[in-house]
Amino acid sequence: MGGVDHDVLDLFPDSARIKGATLTLGGLTADELAAEFGTPLVVYCEETLRARARSLRAAVTGGHVAFGAKAFSNVAVLKLFREEGLGVDVASTGELAFARAAGFRGDEIIVHGNNKDAALLAEAGAEGATVVLDAPDEAELAAAAGVKRVLVRVTLGVDADTHEAIRTGHHGSKFGLPVTQARSLIEGALECGLDVLGLHVHIGSQLADFDAQAETIVRLASFAAGCRDSLGWVPKVADLGGGFGIRHNTDEHAPDAATLAAGAVETAQTAFREAGLPTPEIWLEPGRSLVGTAGVTLYRVGAVKRLPERTWVAVDGGMSDNPRPQLYEAVYTAVSATRADERAGEHVSIAGMHCESGDVLIDDVALPTPHRGDLLAVPATGAYTLAMASNYNGVTRPAAVLVGDGAARLIRTRETIADLLRAEV
Ligand code: LLP
Repeated sequence: MGGVDHDVLDLFPDSARIKGATLTLGGLTADELAAEFGTPLVVYCEETLRARARSLRAAVTGGHVAFGAKAFSNVAVLKLFREEGLGVDVASTGELAFARAAGFRGDEIIVHGNNKDAALLAEAGAEGATVVLDAPDEAELAAAAGVKRVLVRVTLGVDADTHEAIRTGHHGSKFGLPVTQARSLIEGALECGLDVLGLHVHIGSQLADFDAQAETIVRLASFAAGCRDSLGWVPKVADLGGGFGIRHNTDEHAPDAATLAAGAVETAQTAFREAGLPTPEIWLEPGRSLVGTAGVTLYRVGAVKRLPERTWVAVDGGMSDNPRPQLYEAVYTAVSATRADERAGEHVSIAGMHCESGDVLIDDVALPTPHRGDLLAVPATGAYTLAMASNYNGVTRPAAVLVGDGAARLIRTRETIADLLRAEV
């Protein structure tokens, strides 16, 4: 296995191998991929995407899994998940357009948003999508827009163990409504003649453990029992949102998403039974756990600066293609994709190429003595990277490819300077 240890390889997609000095993905060397498509390049492993989709679906038999498209809204990936029998969760007219372009229709689509605009509600209505109501006056707006089926998002006051920027189930959250207001919203939606299928909760993303999720499910069942008693209404669906975490570095722990999903189904069955309610159909909306580990970013090393304080290894991307270190203090790791057989003996910092000191991709990682021209591979970068990419410093957003069985297919073209100039007046 050369200089790269097994632990690190666990963070990579299923098809990743080290062959001599080279990392291969989907049967292609990192060198070949970089030569053909340029860098930075996000490489998605088809085998991993399909395997994650299948294991999550299998974990919620009788339920429904919708891909949280915000993690990576890409038509090819959406199509692949549709082939695997997943639905899709969208949060804007843009994501809805991507879902439609991938072939999703009607009740395969769940529409989210704490502030849906008129266009989104109208398109959801015309599409026959399921809309998750998330504001006190949204039942009337949705009904007027022709929406038929809805869920109601409730906030149950559970603090999830994750970065505060991606916590959503606590009291005071901008998402969902607290119980009393959520109950009024259900009542209003019923009065509007909407088919109120059920309830929705999503307590946060990159959840470190299942405790908060389990507590939420128990509170949800008790809220549902209250709705039965006061409104004579019982949810047919409990949509538990997304949130399963993935590992970005070897120090991080993340329970297997399919195991957690199966646990959520079981917890819900017990909690609803104990509340004297029929078991609802369980829906899940995983994003990160479907695409995160499937994606690897390849960067080309440029300037190497050896300072008394530290050694900087600068790459040809940074916070414009992955802002997660800046936004969530996310800690990534990297391996040399071209000298993987050499001992990782030097501790370095990976700098981005942007004009600010905070543009540090990885604070500390051990690599073989780095040289200009090396390729670096950063694993677990398939979720919320390209999806949140920017054009800071006039940098174009990277390309993405799908690899498998020794072939690569471009699934997103590299942006060009001409694309950037097109928006200028
Ligand atoms: N459902 C709803 C209603 C959501 O708000 C989200 C994520 C998901 C499903 C999917 O959650 P996942 O399984 O991916 O955790 N940009 C942040 C993550 C923001 C998550 C937003 N909502 C990051 O890079 O960590």
